[in-house]
Amino acid sequence: MYRQLAAFAVVSFTGFQGAFAQGNSVGVCLASTGYNWTTNSMNQSPCQVANDLFAADPCNQSGVSYPTLNSTPDSQSYYDGPLASNSSACTCNTVIYSLTSACGLCQSGKFLYWSEWTDNCYPNNTLYQEWPASIPSGTTIPPWAYLPLVNGYWDNVAAQNNAYAFAAFDEKIRGKAICKT
Ligand SMILES: *[C@@H]1O[C@H](CO)[C@@H](O)[C@H](O)[C@H]1NC(C)=O
Ligand SMILES: *[C@@H]1O[C@H](CO)[C@@H](O)[C@H](O)[C@H]1NC(C)=O
Ligand SMILES: *[C@@H]1O[C@H](CO)[C@@H](O)[C@H](O)[C@H]1NC(C)=O
Ligand SMILES: *[C@@H]1O[C@H](CO)[C@@H](O)[C@H](O)[C@H]1NC(C)=O
Repeated sequence: MYRQLAAFAVVSFTGFQGAFAQGNSVGVCLASTGYNWTTNSMNQSPCQVANDLFAADPCNQSGVSYPTLNSTPDSQSYYDGPLASNSSACTCNTVIYSLTSACGLCQSGKFLYWSEWTDNCYPNNTLYQEWPASIPSGTTIPPWAYLPLVNGYWDNVAAQNNAYAFAAFDEKIRGKAICKT
């Protein structure tokens, strides 16, 4: 899910450096970044949620998929999209892209544009506002992760506006959520 250097531009105002990991545990959001609203109703970070979704059937990605980013402030690190070899509906959907974007920002990193994230995706495995499988027990997908993209990337402002908007939202549903934009 990450690599040292990328030929991609990232959503960033100061250039980019590429993603790299530190250690072998799931990334932890830094309180200083102000993204604690990205946690789901089980108080799990977007990094943990994305990691758990990948670990479960049908993605079956063993190991840590969202290792800690190098977390020096504004390190410009980010998580990369799928390679051609593992392009699948697991990675080519806006739900996991949005969770991944939040996971990068909440660690003081960056995130890719959707067009960059999906560089190795195909129309036949790409999903919008939908997670392709059932949601494993032990996690939930926060409502904001189902929002549409804006201008080709994850809109953190719209997401935050929706973070607490749906007290009754069933995070276990599969498919589209109707969210306030
Ligand atoms: C895709 O494969 C690469 C190389 O083996 C790996 O680093 C990455 O985690 C994989 N991504 C997914 C989503 O399986
Ligand atoms: C997030 O952090 C801020 C600042 O520390 C705090 O005021 C707020 O209550 C926290 N929100 C959640 C949902 O934990
Ligand atoms: C993923 O694991 C589940 C449960 O072990 C299995 O039924 C399924 O076939 C696996 N999927 C793939 C693509 O290997
Ligand atoms: C999806 O599209 C790609 C690229 O056109 C193709 O290589 C692949 O076989 C297609 N997969 C399926 C399941 O149709």
